Amino acid sequence: MGVVGKPVVRADGLEKVTGRARFVADLTFPGMLFARVIRSTVPHARIRHIDLEKALAVAGVIRIALAADIPGNNIVPVVLRDQPCLAEEVVRYVGEPIGVLAATSLEAAEKALHLVRVDYDPLPALLDATMARHPESPHLFGEQNVFKHQVVRKGDPGQAFAKADLVLERVYRTPCQEHAYLETQGAIVVPLPDGGFEVYGSLQCPFYVQEGVAEVLGKPLNQIRVIQTSTGGGFGGKEDFPSMVAAQAAIMAQLTGRPVKLIYDRDEDMLCSTKRHPAWIRFKAGATSDGQLVAAQVEYILDGGAYSTLSPVVSLRGTVHAAGPYSIPDISVDTYAVATNKVPNGAFRGFGEPQVAFACECHMDEMARRLGLDPLELRRRNLLRQGDATATGQILCGSVGLEECLDRVVEAANYSSKVQQWGREQGALRRGIGISTVFYGMGLGAGGAPLARTGSHVQVCLDGSVLFAVGTTEIGQGMRTVLSQIVADELGVPYQAVRMAPCDTSRIPDSGPTVASRTTTMSGNSLRRACEPIRTTLLGTAARMTGKPSGELCFEDGFLVHCRNGERLCPYTEVVQEAGRNRENLAAVGWYQAPQTSWDAETGQGHAYLAYAFAANVVELEVNIQTGQVRVTRITAAHDVGRAINPQGVEGQIEGGSIQGLGYGLFEEVLTSEGRVSNNNFSTYILPTMLDTPEIEPIIVESAYEKGPYGAKGFGEQPLIGIAPALRNAILHACGALLTEIPATPERVLEALRKAED
Ligand code: MOS
Repeated sequence: MGVVGKPVVRADGLEKVTGRARFVADLTFPGMLFARVIRSTVPHARIRHIDLEKALAVAGVIRIALAADIPGNNIVPVVLRDQPCLAEEVVRYVGEPIGVLAATSLEAAEKALHLVRVDYDPLPALLDATMARHPESPHLFGEQNVFKHQVVRKGDPGQAFAKADLVLERVYRTPCQEHAYLETQGAIVVPLPDGGFEVYGSLQCPFYVQEGVAEVLGKPLNQIRVIQTSTGGGFGGKEDFPSMVAAQAAIMAQLTGRPVKLIYDRDEDMLCSTKRHPAWIRFKAGATSDGQLVAAQVEYILDGGAYSTLSPVVSLRGTVHAAGPYSIPDISVDTYAVATNKVPNGAFRGFGEPQVAFACECHMDEMARRLGLDPLELRRRNLLRQGDATATGQILCGSVGLEECLDRVVEAANYSSKVQQWGREQGALRRGIGISTVFYGMGLGAGGAPLARTGSHVQVCLDGSVLFAVGTTEIGQGMRTVLSQIVADELGVPYQAVRMAPCDTSRIPDSGPTVASRTTTMSGNSLRRACEPIRTTLLGTAARMTGKPSGELCFEDGFLVHCRNGERLCPYTEVVQEAGRNRENLAAVGWYQAPQTSWDAETGQGHAYLAYAFAANVVELEVNIQTGQVRVTRITAAHDVGRAINPQGVEGQIEGGSIQGLGYGLFEEVLTSEGRVSNNNFSTYILPTMLDTPEIEPIIVESAYEKGPYGAKGFGEQPLIGIAPALRNAILHACGALLTEIPATPERVLEALRKAED
């Protein structure tokens, strides 16, 4: 019975495929102004003078706001409060906002934007993250330009390396990656007659936006109402950044008293929005001759860009996961998120983990080969199993499906025979197969414990239809569908009878952000709590109607049912109507607080995350050793998700994440020149297309998480994480080219081939 665990029609599917869904750019309000943002063209400078005269003379231009015009605090509140909404005296990256301009038409705003003149006194720019801690580098943040230093100290790797038969050390580099969501950043802010403001926007975290707008306007939170519009993708890129966009529009709405629309165009979005941190990782690990890992030491440098944004927490996730899903007795990790004069980096699917997972999984492969072991075998000998301790000393008590993922992926991909037959074949085209195993801590974990709660509201209407709302958002990941399934089963009504209201901060209390693959678990549990009293009320009514004890009654698929024999007693709606006549309350608020985590920042030890999802990936490909071109032919990916509420949604996530991971491994790299993003459009920033997409076989493993709704644990980010290293390992298997840097462009592959021949 029920719809949980069954593939259902996506709740937001029809409106999106028919084009009826309304995105923020589709909305318009009477008297609305159009805004554009004045931005820095240099990476680091003192602002000498801003000439607005010509811009203000353009017909239709209403107002230009600079930092001094901000009514409240000039701050975008994230973690460290170091980022201004509009630059004051100094600009720290190309694209940094300096002013907001509003006009009665977009054309007038564009025209005026080009007439603003900013004069700068240049300052030395810090453009290399590995130089950030050098004493002679310019000071952007504190003494050493370190936004955050995170550690793990488990045992003594220095001593443990002495026990190893093989110690391998290498440096890996990973690129800056652009989210490339289909819908660019945008917001509309509408001033209300009572002094309040309504904010409409494309966003992941409505409560962050509410806080950000309240901050710049100097208003209490209850005057700022944020309503999420249909959102065309986020991937982390709409986690903190929309607070900036909405704040810019809000400043102008406050100053003009008119609705203000601010939609970034693609070039602008790619120039100045947050991205995935480029990284430099020194990885050292030791193993005995029989393939037992004894120690790992990792130094991980993240290029945070000019402001800290989410770097302090991105670095925490990277630190916790740095040594991979393995049981290693002695581990030390040092992660530095540093400042540079580049566009700030922030949240992106995987949140600091894809970079270190690349290093770790490449390293495991090479160690296995040097020990004369199959890379699969090395992983088998060390992988985390129930009862094992993670790098942070967290004992995994249950829901550890990694071994099953590995078994199933290897079988489905026919790994063993391909590993034997392929690799160093003759001819120009060389086939290869590579593997990776990863884990992902679900939810905010110890780094965001105060935010680890969610609210919801459920109401059963008098005709039996159900309306619910949550404080988390649908960003294309499928939340609306899985939460509708959970509500349907909790109340025993058909899936079609359930509808979700748009996310609105005036309807639900602060529920934290929609990030960290936390939404199914957190909002799902919150909704279960909201449904409980409603179900109790309805069962009480049903007991009075039927004369049977409520304990013998339940609701299933829209009927009141006798639990023991499954007899259908009457339609559910009759019970609802009777409860209505009795003036019963059929609405309830749900609230869920995540269980406690623990963390000692000095040692990096503790119960870092509630639960972990696990995955094993196999990538098959072909390398043309004459051109260096790589063509991925097949991806097999097995993921332990606890429970797949909507299996079709999980498969979709595996497919989408695999393609995004393939792009990360093979093509994607945000390039900068003198600190300026130089490929900020889709003709020069190369994304995988359908033509690059191989056959993908998703495999769902369900090792239930007992505290998750129906056993579900987080999912969404994980599918991306292990693809790039499996791809790199397949290249190594195919032709011996050992890459330590992605993307695996033809140039890099050819260079690695030349080195392999030397
Ligand atoms: Mo996500 S990268 O936790 O928005």
